[in-house]
Amino acid sequence: TREDQVWEGWLTGGSSLLEEINASVRFDYRLAQQDIDGSIAHAHMLAKCEVISSAEAEQIVAGLEQIRGEIKSGDFTFDPGLEDVHMNVEARLRDLIGPTAGRLHTARSRNDQVAVDARLWVRDAIDRLDALLVRVIEVIVDRAEVHHADVMPGFTHLQCAQPVTIGHHLLAYGEMFLRDRDRLRSARRRLDESPLGAAALAGTGYPIDPYDTARRLGFRGVTHNSLDAVSDRDFILDYLSAGATLAVHVSRLGEEMVIWSTPQFGFIKLPEDLCAGSSIMPQKRNPDLPELMRAKSGRIFGDLMALLTVMKGLPLAYSRDMQEDKEALFDAADNLELSVRAVEAMLRGITFRPEKTRSDAALGNTVATDVADWLVAERGLPFREAHSVVGGLVKWLGVQGRELKDSSPSELADFDTRFEVLPAEVLTVEYAVARRTSPGGTSPVLVRKAAVELRRRNAEI
Ligand code: ARG
Repeated sequence: TREDQVWEGWLTGGSSLLEEINASVRFDYRLAQQDIDGSIAHAHMLAKCEVISSAEAEQIVAGLEQIRGEIKSGDFTFDPGLEDVHMNVEARLRDLIGPTAGRLHTARSRNDQVAVDARLWVRDAIDRLDALLVRVIEVIVDRAEVHHADVMPGFTHLQCAQPVTIGHHLLAYGEMFLRDRDRLRSARRRLDESPLGAAALAGTGYPIDPYDTARRLGFRGVTHNSLDAVSDRDFILDYLSAGATLAVHVSRLGEEMVIWSTPQFGFIKLPEDLCAGSSIMPQKRNPDLPELMRAKSGRIFGDLMALLTVMKGLPLAYSRDMQEDKEALFDAADNLELSVRAVEAMLRGITFRPEKTRSDAALGNTVATDVADWLVAERGLPFREAHSVVGGLVKWLGVQGRELKDSSPSELADFDTRFEVLPAEVLTVEYAVARRTSPGGTSPVLVRKAAVELRRRNAEI
């Protein structure tokens, strides 16, 4: 039994197994700065409300600032015997300032304390991730502008479909990441309430002012129900689920980079400094970084699923189960930030090969729709009939081992005389992208405008 265990007055102390499963300081030390911020705000508020004297508050705040410095400089030793970060900080405060330290926990419980710490931590994590996404979108816009007119194949079912531009393809990811920013910011808006004052579960009888602590901590407001305040982890679930959707986008982009960098595709050249080699094959340059962008999604989905499962059966209010929220949160935050940084580095580092994407864009009769549309516009066919004529044409060419890209209008006229007056440009991929001017379409003129628009939307939200 340790004499400084907080519940020493009641319980006789635990076994080492209890400590092993119960102690959380191994991971929740990462809440230390937020814990100190919360305690300082709480101490100031207690003095303002005359629950403690201002001399006591000053002593407490000075002690906490010293502990903040010790933690930052690595001079602080966290002791698992003291369970968690909260008890470690408080025990050190008692070493530093003596029994006055015991006044800090007036009108507070670890239940509202850990809730406020976690909210502050997630708020910072959202801001960090959002700032990284801002930069990713900026890089996407820059690269899309350069490649706004460079044609590449567009796929459905990973089969050649219709030509698009590289800029258009990149901006599609820009839209995804902008929505991710929006989801993170809406999660931030909901978490922006201070739970301090809920105490253990029921509120407190001390004449406290939760609005004052909320203001000091930069929260927009105060939680409305003390039971909810200490048992809500929706704000972590919101962050994890926004993060899981973001991880889907990162993973899809990683997958495309892996495919694009093969000699078979050859759409991009990977940056040398972000490639890994092989221990046996001397020629290899492997896309390990985009592969890990793709794979990180697995653990982030796992973190979300872990916390959903922890929370789903818990009766109100706090249960110790909720301590299991933190490893999932920290793991997801670390890996989300790392993978978004990887996205930025890859987007900056890859070199597109527009001559290769341009020639591949014509593979697989990708202008067939444009030829059918020409029959509709110039020869007055119903679209279904034009579709069937061009379908037959493509089949006829295929038997001869040819595609539309290898044929001139006069050759096509051997199949159907209506093609005699087909302008040759209708068979080009440039024509195909230029005419797709419907809103959000791939025409280079629109892509350039869309890039400017996305830059503006990214700066405005
Ligand atoms: N380490 C705990 C957690 O993370 C702090 C709250 C403990 N509260 C309690 N009543 N045991 O959830």
